[in-house]
Amino acid sequence: MTAARAAVCIVHFGPAWRRTPLAWAVTRPDPRNHPVPLVHTPALNRLPPYVFAELDRLKAAARMRGATLVDLGIGSPDIPTDPGIVEALSAAAHDPLTHGYPPFRGAPVFFDAIGRFMQSRFGVAIDPPSEAIALSGAKEGIAQIIAALCGPGDIALIPDIYYPVYARAAWLAGAEVRWVRMRPDRGFVLDLDAIPPEDARRARLLIVNYPNNPTGARVERAFYDQAVEFARRNDLLLVSDLAYSELTFGGTPAPSALQSDVRHEVTLEFHSCSKTFSMAGFRIGFAVGSRLAIEALAAYRTNVGYGTPTAVQHAAAWALDHREQIVPGKVAEYRRRRDAMAAAFADAGWTIPVPTASMYLWLPVPEGVDDWEWVRTLIDEDGVVVTPGVAFGDGGRGWFRISLVRDAETLAAAARTIAARRAAVVPAVR
Ligand SMILES: Cc1ncc(COP(=O)(O)O)c(C=O)c1O
Repeated sequence: MTAARAAVCIVHFGPAWRRTPLAWAVTRPDPRNHPVPLVHTPALNRLPPYVFAELDRLKAAARMRGATLVDLGIGSPDIPTDPGIVEALSAAAHDPLTHGYPPFRGAPVFFDAIGRFMQSRFGVAIDPPSEAIALSGAKEGIAQIIAALCGPGDIALIPDIYYPVYARAAWLAGAEVRWVRMRPDRGFVLDLDAIPPEDARRARLLIVNYPNNPTGARVERAFYDQAVEFARRNDLLLVSDLAYSELTFGGTPAPSALQSDVRHEVTLEFHSCSKTFSMAGFRIGFAVGSRLAIEALAAYRTNVGYGTPTAVQHAAAWALDHREQIVPGKVAEYRRRRDAMAAAFADAGWTIPVPTASMYLWLPVPEGVDDWEWVRTLIDEDGVVVTPGVAFGDGGRGWFRISLVRDAETLAAAARTIAARRAAVVPAVR
């Protein structure tokens, strides 16, 4: 940016930049009233309001009133990153070889670790770099594969309870979204048979996410057999978001969709280090699967970025190679937290559905109570932040999500508070 241009920006943006983050969150400027009217594109403008932004506004307002909140809204792991991972990052960062732009697709050390992980964990042989790519988090990769494959006139098949980026990236690309039913009476497993053939024919991709955020649902291999067959029959890409692959409590470990697509022809699978290794702040994940899909993702990424920092890839490689040492402790801690909340709810007379995967509880809003009213009351009256189910789409209406991101004692106390509020708003459950 030239000095003159920079000066213009400073003059125009000055007052906004100087606001505290809190004030910024509460009073958002209208770009149309700005001297340089930075009006969003129609695609950006058409996006429905981001529910997490409204939640931020409610939290900021409560804090301004002096409230201390127990924030169980966003699923950002509070369990510290393993010191070995931090040391691996530090050692790599001290090596000047990591200081230049990273290789576009990934560093050899990370590719090797991905190959070992996929083989030892799922029995899936991956051939990097043609079948793998490093990402600065699964989220951006999912958005980018959608942008690479979907445009106006195309359809993206997305669960009607969904991690927000799936639909938002499709809308930003100008594509149409068709919802795939995900209902409690089917254990929140997608009903692929309910997809109209006409939608399937025009669809470029189908997104599935198990273990699931927010519901905690999980699937076995048979589901992927069906999804792979569906993708093959309809000439579309199966995008499997496996961000919670390691967070399961009992039973067989979560399978990979690539176990059902042995030649890696129709599947692209996204992995994340954020939850498995408490590395959300490091921003690293990867995708594996179909060569053509990896090619599409790489083609998009090379046009808009420079790849994932090499030092971070070293840290993630160390994490993957030490999975068996790191993961069981984390899983045990999330299980302890889940059980502490379930027990506290039970003590208060509420038997909740207990998930066997993920780091969330997915609970029904008390009958007859509006979703937002429920969440607002918990924040304003009780100081507990939870996420309304509608943050995950219309299919999530009538539910709310609790993230298990505090210690067991704090969570048990929060459960008692929520149960008491429930009893207060629904006299019948007292
Ligand atoms: C289902 C799901 N996919 C992807 C992500 C994002 O992962 P990452 O931090 O690797 O971008 C999340 C984060 O909450 C998630 O819940």
